[in-house]
Order: sequence, then structure tokens, then C-alpha cells
Amino acid sequence: MGSLDDIRPEWRTLKRKWEHSFHPMCSYMGMFPASLPHYFIQKLTDEGDVVLDPFSGRGTAPLQACVDGRVGVGNDLNPMAYVLTRAKVDPPSAESVHQRIEDLRLDYDPPETEHVPEKVQMLYHDHTLAQLVYLKREFGLGENGIPADLRSLSQIDTFVTALLLGIMHGQSGQYLSVSMPNTFSMSEGYVSDYIEEEGLEPPRRDVFDKLETRLHTIYHDGEPAQRGHAVFGDARDLPETLADIDDVDGVDLIFTSPPYLKVLKYGLYNWIRLWFLDEEPDVVDDRLDDELDLEAYLEFMTETFAVADEVLDSEGGVAAFVIGDVDQGGETINLAKEVADEVVAPMDGFEVGRIVEDRVPDNEKVSRIWGETKGEATEIDRILIAHRGHVEVADDPDGLKTKSLPGRQQTLSSFD
Ligand SMILES: C[S@@+](CC[C@H](N)C(=O)[O-])C[C@H]1O[C@@H](n2cnc3c(N)ncnc32)[C@H](O)[C@@H]1O
Repeated sequence: MGSLDDIRPEWRTLKRKWEHSFHPMCSYMGMFPASLPHYFIQKLTDEGDVVLDPFSGRGTAPLQACVDGRVGVGNDLNPMAYVLTRAKVDPPSAESVHQRIEDLRLDYDPPETEHVPEKVQMLYHDHTLAQLVYLKREFGLGENGIPADLRSLSQIDTFVTALLLGIMHGQSGQYLSVSMPNTFSMSEGYVSDYIEEEGLEPPRRDVFDKLETRLHTIYHDGEPAQRGHAVFGDARDLPETLADIDDVDGVDLIFTSPPYLKVLKYGLYNWIRLWFLDEEPDVVDDRLDDELDLEAYLEFMTETFAVADEVLDSEGGVAAFVIGDVDQGGETINLAKEVADEVVAPMDGFEVGRIVEDRVPDNEKVSRIWGETKGEATEIDRILIAHRGHVEVADDPDGLKTKSLPGRQQTLSSFD
């Protein structure tokens, strides 16, 4: 067994192709590569351990935990993040998703679409839009005059919804919309000017066909070895919400990247996907802790570490936080060090173990594509490792040696 000094940024040597095929289900701003949690999970936990991400985003850390045979638990307050995380940690069989898509196709009866906001209508061919409205209605996502309740979506419909979020807009034939970026939703005004200037016509795409194609790609590596849990809530409520989950009795590792300081607006920049989920972008943005100044951010981190203190195992529990440096008014703030000094060091429960530097190539940092609104993210992320008691660090874990993907290799051959 080694010590925290043996933690090195070796995750950078794992190529993207190595990832489990569920990971790229849908892009998400501020996401980290799966190799990063994989490294920490392998080094710091054993099979069957519980790995929690209180800010799970697209569900990278909890999914990776499940792929690595741990119980992955992801929590997020963004509805889109909840759907993606839940689909990944508790997937139905590929066969049952296929069956559901085919049943929906058989029952399809084109609905009216006049009530759909003009900004959404301009993105889709009439045929495609009618199918989207039909699916919203079938999934109870706001087409029946009743507000959507994402928690009550079935396991299969959550998975189909997650597949759909991934193909709602993009630039190639696999996407449903007029040609536009996949990573985020451009502003309504920008898209409408672009469509007019370029004389674009929305392509006629069949949603059921595109879902089937996507299902094949996403299920390439089969279901992860282990099941996990998704929670739709505020990270500060985790002590109560985790208590309701039967097979989670104490957390062994928290691996997370908390919200940035004044960088991303998850609601506004995902208005198209949120339309499908029947969520208002500004309501989502008001709910999330993504626009804090430094003082409020440190207060928020204090509350987050208090939660970590409550839920982590008291002996050997580790909290690893990926925190990017930020530029403010020309000055670079080493935010990880601020959190270590101001938040973690004064706590009785925790010790600051290490702060490991991770340089992120410019083109990988999603916040960079925002031009002048990209805010203050820089190319340096740091992983702040805080721990309780003695920590065991595996020298040469099997999962890192083989770089293989544990998991039941269930494929789609049964209905190819
Ligand atoms: C940097 S992102 C995490 C991205 C994630 N690591 C991934 O790979 O997709 C931070 C997340 O914190 C979420 N968030 C913001 N405030 C929150 C809160 N109070 N409770 C729970 N989640 C919150 C945002 O919705 C966002 O998904």
C-alpha cells in the first residue's frame, strides 16, 4: 500500500477511446474525462465501496464507479444532470429500451404542434417536431397540462429521454435539429439570424430511427458491472437523502467537481434540452449555485464539506474535489488552495492530504467555447484531496494495469 504522495496525474495517459460507451451519451458543460475518477476510484477504493459525486453533472463519476464495480451515487440539482446520471447508473436492458422505442413508434399518432414556442419550431422539421411533442406527452413532460415530475419517470423512459437529450441538436445526420453545435444551445437570436442568413431548412429526421441508432452506439460496451443511484436534489441535503437509500451506509470516496465560480449557466445554455424536459432555463439557473462570488463560494464549500463530514466514513474516507483556477480582473486565483486553507484546514474532521495539478488542454475546457461569456476558467484544474484518518492508496490496482472495462458484455446482437 502506498500513500497520497503516490497520486500522480497518470489519468492523462488513458485515451478517450478507453471510456465505457455510456459516457458520451450527452455532452455537458464542465464535464471531466472518465479517466480522472477512474484513477482515483482504483487507487482509493475497493470493489463494492460507495463512491459519491454530490455535483454529478452528466454522471461521469458515478457511472465510472459502477463500471469499476463500486456503487456509484450521483446527486445534482439540474434536471438534465439528474436524467443523465440516472440513465447511466440504473440502465434498463438494451432489449427493453429497443422494445419501448418500437412500441412508441407503433402507437405514434402525430399531435398538434402550434403551441410549441417559435424558437423551438424553427429548429425542427414538422415531422420531427411532431414526434418530439408526442414523446413529451407520452413521458408526461408537460404536454398534458400537468407539470413534469422527472423523479416519477420510469427507468426505461428515463433512459430514452437521456438518449434523446444527446441527439436533440448537433451538426451531423445523427442529430435531429437544423445544423448547430451539440455541446450547448446557441442563443435564440443567434440561431434565428444564422438560419435566415444561410437559408437553412430543418432536416426531416425520424426520431425513432435516430434513437435506435443511438441505442446501438451507447450500448456498445453493455451494462456496467454494478448498479448505482441518482438523487435529484441540493448537495446540502445529502445526509437526509442518502439515509433513504438502502444499500448506502456510509461513503468511502467523494469524487466531484463542484460548480465553478461565475462561469456557467446550465439553464440558459441548455434551453433546447430543457424545453423537452419541460423546465424553464432561468428557474434552473436561479436554483443552481453557479454564480457565486469568492466569499459566497467559500461559504458554499464550507457547507459542502460539512456534508462530506457527515456522510464520509470516519476512518480512511477521502474527498477529492476537482477545482479549476480562475482569472478575476487579470489575477489568477488558485481556488483549490483557497478552499484547502479557508474551508478544510480549520475543520476538525479533515486533513488536507494533497493538491495535485492537472493541466487541461485549452480545447477540452467547455467553458472556453463561450467567447466573451466564457468567464474566468483557466487551463489549470487542481484536485484537492482531503481525508479522514489513515488512507490506503493501492500501489498498482488491477483496473489501472489492464485498462480493461469490467462489465457484463451484453450486446445488441439479440435484436440486430
Ligand atoms: C462542474 S459541474 C459537474 C460536472 C461533472 N463532473 C461532469 O463530469 O459532468 C457542477 C454541477 O454542480 C451542479 N450544482 C450546482 N449547484 C448545486 C447544488 N446546490 N446542489 C447540487 N448540484 C449543484 C450543476 O448543476 C452542475 O451539474
